This record gives sequence, C-alpha cells and structure tokens, in this order.
Amino acid sequence: MTSYHLRSASPAKTRSDVVVVGAVQSGKDVRLAPGAEDVAEAYGRKLRPMLSTLGFGAKPGEVAKVPTAGVISSPLLVLVGLGEDPGPVAVRRAAGSAARAISNASSVALALPADSPELVRAVIEGYELGSYTFTTYKRKRAAESQGANTVSLLTPIARQQAAVSASEEALLVADAVREARDWVNLPPADLRPPDFAEAVAAAAKKLGRGAKVKVTVLDEKRLADLGCGGILAVGEGSSAPPRLVELVYDPADAVGHVALVGKGITYDSGGLSIKPASGMTTMKSDMAGAAAVVQATFAIARLGLPLKISAFAPMAENMVSGSAMRPGDVVTHYGGTTSEVLNTDAEGRLILADALVRATELVPDAILDVATLTGHMVIALGDKVAGVLGSDEVVGGVLAAGEAAGEGLWPMPIPEAMVERIKSSKIADLLQHDGNRWGGGLFAAAYLREFTAGLPWAHLDIAGTAFNSGGPYGHITSGGTGFGVATLVDYARSLVVNAG
Ligand code: BES
Ligand code: MN
Ligand code: ZN
Repeated sequence: MTSYHLRSASPAKTRSDVVVVGAVQSGKDVRLAPGAEDVAEAYGRKLRPMLSTLGFGAKPGEVAKVPTAGVISSPLLVLVGLGEDPGPVAVRRAAGSAARAISNASSVALALPADSPELVRAVIEGYELGSYTFTTYKRKRAAESQGANTVSLLTPIARQQAAVSASEEALLVADAVREARDWVNLPPADLRPPDFAEAVAAAAKKLGRGAKVKVTVLDEKRLADLGCGGILAVGEGSSAPPRLVELVYDPADAVGHVALVGKGITYDSGGLSIKPASGMTTMKSDMAGAAAVVQATFAIARLGLPLKISAFAPMAENMVSGSAMRPGDVVTHYGGTTSEVLNTDAEGRLILADALVRATELVPDAILDVATLTGHMVIALGDKVAGVLGSDEVVGGVLAAGEAAGEGLWPMPIPEAMVERIKSSKIADLLQHDGNRWGGGLFAAAYLREFTAGLPWAHLDIAGTAFNSGGPYGHITSGGTGFGVATLVDYARSLVVNAG
C-alpha cells in the first residue's frame, strides 16, 4: 500500500529516492513546468544541454530518467512531458507515465504542476492509476506489485483544506477505478454472473461505516417471476444463470436521485450469431459498464455525496448451446414490451431493456446507462473516446463531467430515421436488429430509449474505451481501463453543486 502526503517542500532539497518533475514545450524550447522551479534553478545553465543530450522533447507522456549526481538532494530525477499545456489532462497522463517509469523506489516526491485542487487531484489519480497492475494470475506476484511506500505530492497549497480534500477524494475515486479494472481483467470463467453478483455484494459489505449501499441480488427464479425476459433469454445458453444486481445508496440529506444502469455481459461469444474468433478475445470486458456503475455508486457513497443513487447491473453470459436464444425468437421484457431478436450478438440492449424499465419505476431525476454496446461506436470514435446519446440536458451534463474527470466523451445523435427502423418488426413491438449496419450505435440508442419512459436519460457507449488491448499510455494501463467511473462520480458531484 502506498501512502500519499501533501507537502510544500522544495523539490531540489527534498530527500527521497526519486523526484518527478514536468516539462513543457514552448515553441522549439523545452522548459521545466510549474512546481519544478527549484530544480531548474539547481541545474541552472546545465539544464538546456542536458535535455538536448537526452533528446527529450516533453511530448505528452514522454519520460526521461536522470541520475542527479548531487545537483539536487535526491539521487534520481524523472522528467515527464506535458506537451504544450500543463493542464489537468496532461498532468494526469504524465503522473501515470511517471508511476510506471519508477521501479525500486520506496519514497517518491512528485513535483508536477499542482497549485490548484484540480491539479492535485490529477496528479494523484494519474499516479495511482498509472501504477495499477493486475497480477492475480502471475506466479511471482508479490514481489512485482510493490509500488512506492510513500509518495509526497509537493504543492504550494499543501495546507489548504481544498487541496487535502481533493487528494482524499482522488484516492477514493482511483480506488474505485482500480476495483473496476480488476473485475474487467478477471478471466471470464472466474467471473460468471453468479460470481460477479457475489463479488458486488461482498464489496458493498467492505465499504466501511458511513457508506451504506444496500445490495439486492435477483436470481433466475426471481427474474422469471418478474418477467425479465431479456436478461433470461440472453442467459439461457449458459450453464451459469443470469442475475440482476440492484444497489441503493440513499443518504438522509439527498438533494436528488440518479439511476445508473450498466451492461454486465460476463462473456460475449455472440451466441448463435457467433462472433469470429478474433472478435471474441476481449469479450470478457463486456461487463465493464456494470463494473463502472457499481464502483461509481460505491465511490459516491464513500464520498458521502448527498444524492440518492439506484444502480442496476443486469448480468448474463452470452453463450452457444442447445438452450441458447435463437435469431427469430421474441422476448418479452420486464414491463411487457416485446422484441424480435434477429441477431443474438446484439444482446446488450436486451438485458439493458429490462433493467432500464426497473429504473424508470423509481422515477429518478435522470437515468444514465453505461455499456460496451456496439462496435459501430468504436469505428466512429476510436478506442479513446466514448459516445454519449440521449436527452440534451443529461448528455450535456455527462460531457461536462467527462471534461472534469479527464475521460474522452463525444455527443452522438439519435436521428429520427432510427425510430422507423426499431419499429419495423412485423411480429413484435420492437426490432432488436435490422441487418443494416449503418448507424448501428445510433440504432441501439434509439432502441434503449424506448425503455426510458421519456425520463431524462443518457447512454454511454464505452465499447472502445473499456478495454485497452495495447500497451499502457499515461494513467491508462493495459486491459480494463475502469472508464466511466470517474465521469459518473463527477456527474453526481455536479448535480449536488447545482442543487446547493
Ligand atoms: N459487446 C459487443 C460490442 C463490442 C464490440 C464491445 C467491440 C467492445 C468491442 C456487442 O454485444 C456486440 O456484439 N454488438 C454488435 C451489434 C450488432 C450485432 C448489431 C456489434 O457491434 O457488431
Ligand atoms: Mn454481442
Ligand atoms: Zn456484448
């Protein structure tokens, strides 16, 4: 466990194993960033030739390690690039890159730009997330996963309450993101719907006093009694039954009520409309939306935000077997709406439909759903930006929250033409899939909207951002990213601020 401290010490005089400073580009020049003035002064005229010898260009996330040979009191200086703008986005990323560049240090001093609570938050979240590892399945795990014991964040506002709160809150949010990553990274055989539901219940118990989140697990029998036909149909092909996990955080001083719904497909083989082998390799991550809404609920509760949260995590494994749902089947959702299923690989919307209707029954102020829903959204926006669709006001709130959280989100429309397509079934109320690939992510959102009872709603399609199949960059490590947790928490914060 790493412990974090805020200090207003000089980075040149501090004695730790490593000092981390930022560097910014200005024109062709590279300069040390705010927070590193003392280090720049200690190097004096030697700084420029040193940077040029290193070939260090201060590109975002670029890292260089320099033995200090006594120029400053700590033996190793880590330079990390911030690009041209040393704002929270660059700082979060840089702190993440720095964390991974440091091995074998028990004390680290971070002298990145941190003269505002937003920057303090960015440094801590970045460092804590960038140093994330998933070593559960590694034989030699204990030795590898040891980070620094103490991290000192050097900041001129160390004694201000706003900075102290920002650092505590950042740690708490980072913790939730890390837990979400853990769930996503677990192999799908070890996190099937009943396991996932149990893991959520167990995690809620460990939240500690003050953060009371009530968890109800609805099993397959209960789902049948309720008529949750979407969740049941998708789960039918699996030997592990589906679940619907419902969470409530209801503080006495709540100023509003938000419902969160997250897609929890613990593995998506596509079902009978089976995926090609290459499309299946990352499909353990198809429960990332559920992980995000559950962990966001936990973080909101631990922060003690005065906002009621009702979260819904439908969980199923989309498999192939003699009992699997077929293209051509009609499912009856919770509440009675029927869907004609023409592609069993468009399973997410089927389980979300039941959960969304459950959410509408509580008449919350807003509903947010988070889902690894469509490959179409990945084609449209790439793997670092998620799509947001729905009611203008909620979409706007989510975009602003993403900005504060440092997560990439982009608004996408639900064109009127989609309504005709989702209503074109000849035998059921809705058509789940129409064989037309164009605008598939927008079609999916139009379909989901049918289950929102006209309440303020936004849908986050995180298919591209939930899982990083490549190498780490900044605070984003390989595998599960925990995308969405921080944005949801900031959305909740913004509602509280606006109500106050
Ligand atoms: N879980 C997938 C979407 C996905 C794709 C997530 C790539 C992450 C990366 C979803 O269930 C799916 O299979 N969607 C289909 C929908 C289609 C059949 C309408 C898709 O995107 O192809
Ligand atoms: Mn699918
Ligand atoms: Zn899926």
